[in-house]
Amino acid sequence: MRVLVTGGCGFIGSHVARALVAAGHAVTNLDALTYASNPANVASIAAHPRYRFVEGNICDSALVRELVADVDVVINFAAETHVDRSLLDPGIFVRTDVEGVVSLLEAVRATRTARLVHMSTDEVFGSLAPGVEAEEEGQFAPTSPYSASKAAAELQVRAYAETYELPVTVLRSCNVYGPNQHIEKFIPLFITRALAGVPLPLYGDGLQEREWIHVDDIVAAVGLLLEHLPGAAGAHAIHIGSGERLPNRVVAEAICRLAGRDESLIQRVEDRPGHDRRYALNSRRLRSRGWRPAVRFEEGLERTVRWYAGNADAWAAAENPEFREYFARQYGERLGAV
Ligand SMILES: NC(=O)c1ccc[n+]([C@@H]2O[C@H](COP(=O)([O-])OP(=O)(O)OC[C@H]3O[C@@H](n4cnc5c(N)ncnc54)[C@H](O)[C@@H]3O)[C@@H](O)[C@H]2O)c1
Repeated sequence: MRVLVTGGCGFIGSHVARALVAAGHAVTNLDALTYASNPANVASIAAHPRYRFVEGNICDSALVRELVADVDVVINFAAETHVDRSLLDPGIFVRTDVEGVVSLLEAVRATRTARLVHMSTDEVFGSLAPGVEAEEEGQFAPTSPYSASKAAAELQVRAYAETYELPVTVLRSCNVYGPNQHIEKFIPLFITRALAGVPLPLYGDGLQEREWIHVDDIVAAVGLLLEHLPGAAGAHAIHIGSGERLPNRVVAEAICRLAGRDESLIQRVEDRPGHDRRYALNSRRLRSRGWRPAVRFEEGLERTVRWYAGNADAWAAAENPEFREYFARQYGERLGAV
C-alpha cells in the first residue's frame, strides 16, 4: 500500500511510519516539523527506498492534494496535541486540528481514490462519571480548546463522509505512552524529572483518571485496521482503549518507584482550569476484530522509564529554551507557590 502519514516525525506517527515501512508499505511522511517533532524518531527509515519525507503543513491544500493523489491511504496524526498549550494559545489548535483536517478532506474528496484514517481522542467526550465508558456513537462534550478542536475536526469528517459519500475511519485513542514522546507530556515529563531528581508538579488532587495504552498496541491496531478499511461511505469510528485506568497520582508514584526516587518528589500544584476528571473508552468494536492490548501498563511503564534513562541523547534536544519558557509559564508560579 502507498500510505501518506501526516505528523510522522511526532510520537505516534513515527512509530506507525516505521512499522508500515517494515511491513512492506511505501510511506510518505508529511510533517511541518513543529516544536513537538523530532526527526530522529524516523532516522532508522530516513534512507529507506520505500520512505519519503516531505516537510510541509497539512493546511497547505495544494501540497496536500498533490500528495494525496499519489497514495491509497492517508493516516492523519498531524496535530497540535498538548492540552496545556491549548489553554495558552488556542488559535493554532483550530488552524491545525480543524482547518488542517478540512484540507485533507478536500484532497480526499477531490481525488476520491485515497481512504482517510483520522486520529482522534477520548477527550472529545469530556469527563465521564465513574463506571461509564464512552461508546463509539457517544455524544461529544469537549472542555478544552484541544478537545474542542478535535471534536470539531470529527464533525467535519462526519459532514464530508455524509455529504460527499466518503468512507472515512476515525480512531479514538485513550492516552498513549512509550518511547519518543515529547518530554512536555505527563509521563515523559515526570520520568525525565524523576530521573533528574527534581519536583514532579502534579495537578490538583491527582485523582484524575486516565486510560493508558502503550504505543506498540496502537501500532498493532492501526496495522489491523488498515487491512479492513470500510468500503461503505460514512465516518466509521473505532475506539482503541486498553481498559487500564489509573489516577494520575498512582502513575506518578509508579514513576518515582521505577526511577528509584522517593514519592516526596511529587508536589501537588494548582490544578489546570477545566481539567477533566475521568476518561474511559469502550473498545469492544476493535476487540471483536481480534485486537487485544499486548503490553500491560506496569510492564510498559517500566520499559518506558528504562528507555528515557538510556536514551537521553534522543530527547535532550527537546529540553531547549522554548521548552524551558513553556515550562516556566505553565508550572513556574505553581511550583513557586508550593
Ligand atoms: N499522544 C496521545 O496520548 C494521544 C491520545 C489520543 C489521540 N492522540 C492523537 O494522535 C495524534 C498524534 O499524537 P502524538 O502524540 O503523536 O502528537 P505529537 O505532538 O507527538 O506529534 C504531532 C506531529 O504533527 C506535526 N504537525 C503539527 N502540526 C502540523 C501541521 N500543521 N502540518 C503537518 N504536521 C504537523 C508535528 O510536527 C509533530 O511531528 C494526534 O491527532 C493526537 O490528537 C494522541
